[in-house]
Amino acid sequence: MSSLPSGHPNALGPVTRGPSKTRRSLPSSEAESVTPKPGILETAAPTEEFSFELKPREIARHLDRFVIGQAEAKKVLSVALCDHFQHVRRCLAGEEAMYYQKQNVLLLGPTGVGKTHLIRSAAELIGVPFVKADATKFSETGYVGGDVDDLVRDLVRKAGGNVKKASYGIIYLDEVDKLATRGEGGGRDVSGRGVQTNLLKLMEDGDVPIVSPNDMTGQIQSAMSTLGGAGSAQPETINTRHILFIVSGAFAGMEHLIRDRLSHSFEESLGSKSKIVRMKADDLFAQSMTADFIQYGLEPEFVGRLPVRVACHGLDTGHLFDVLRRSESSLVRQYERAFEAYGIQAEFTDAGLRHLAELAAGENTGARGLMTVCERVFRDLKFALPSSRVRSFKVTQELVADPAGGLKRLLASVRKSVSSLAKSTSRSGSET
Ligand SMILES: Nc1ncnc2c1ncn2[C@@H]1O[C@H](COP(=O)(O)OP(=O)(O)O)[C@@H](O)[C@H]1O
Ligand SMILES: [Mg+2]
Repeated sequence: MSSLPSGHPNALGPVTRGPSKTRRSLPSSEAESVTPKPGILETAAPTEEFSFELKPREIARHLDRFVIGQAEAKKVLSVALCDHFQHVRRCLAGEEAMYYQKQNVLLLGPTGVGKTHLIRSAAELIGVPFVKADATKFSETGYVGGDVDDLVRDLVRKAGGNVKKASYGIIYLDEVDKLATRGEGGGRDVSGRGVQTNLLKLMEDGDVPIVSPNDMTGQIQSAMSTLGGAGSAQPETINTRHILFIVSGAFAGMEHLIRDRLSHSFEESLGSKSKIVRMKADDLFAQSMTADFIQYGLEPEFVGRLPVRVACHGLDTGHLFDVLRRSESSLVRQYERAFEAYGIQAEFTDAGLRHLAELAAGENTGARGLMTVCERVFRDLKFALPSSRVRSFKVTQELVADPAGGLKRLLASVRKSVSSLAKSTSRSGSET
């Protein structure tokens, strides 16, 4: 995970550490004597400091710094995260709501529009252990590819072996649409369903052995430490009841299923059939319902455990321009630094950035298109300029449109200034 930029709003308060104003900090004997409130399960006395004081708007504002657009996803995600971590805070303070329903999240939308970026930025802010994996790497049996339980074990590793901390972490599973077993998605195979079934247990409430049954060395080590009496402090399993699951996928082709459903449903609010026919993929995704995911090939039980759903929109030229110009994670900083390493100052003009955004929009891969385009545009400049006398240059619209010509002109201009400098020194030399 990348390091946090300066002024990172962990300044909003040490989020996982430090005392909290709102946290109940009763001595454990006193905590035990508190009469249980209805619907509240008294759990073990708090063992660790945890404070969570962020409000949804603060999380969304933090996300605004790194992720352009996606206002609806930011809103939905901020609320789900706040709900979850308020719940965690209460659990750690010794009160657990008996009927709490976990707000697992499903993010859908095209590739490269910031789904992963959103989750990663949010997890950094909250400071909880966070694991990201692609659903495609798992298999039902775990013989080929991974076993979904490994996700939970990874979380323990991320939490530095602290099982308690890991049990409140976030698991982010990308490419869940590839687990579809039938339908338009052209699903991968029957084992996709098996993986979904295995995930069900984890998403609700399951116990996972901390040492994998396939890990012989780990098994022996754990047996040895138990014999030696050292293993008693750490539990052998981790419960997944409080782990937040966030899944995402592009669900390519699902827009057609949604359009079909809408045009058969005669929903007044959506207007005439011809309007539905003309609806864009983004608007269709925003209308997605459980039935569409099931038709796409996900198991009803799986979709059912993902109550919070939100669609991310595609990025147009304007968004991509903002990604370059405004986002704190912009690629522009990376390129500036790359040239700076050779003492070369690259100055990006707005017209240059806009043209990069226009080219990237044509790639149809969201913000990933920016990387492709920048690599292509700056390839020769990155190769030639470090060995030249060029000390600064402007990234203009002309340079982006014709990098080879731009490079030639840059090199010619330094040659010209070198030769005129040489001439003037030789002249001033002969004069003296
Ligand atoms: N909305 C956005 N705002 C700023 N940067 C973005 C945005 N979307 C994508 N990016 C950039 O593109 C990269 C890939 O995006 P990612 O979040 O991995 O896409 P996906 O939606 O496929 O998960 C990110 O690391 C980020 O740098
Ligand atoms: Mg992604």
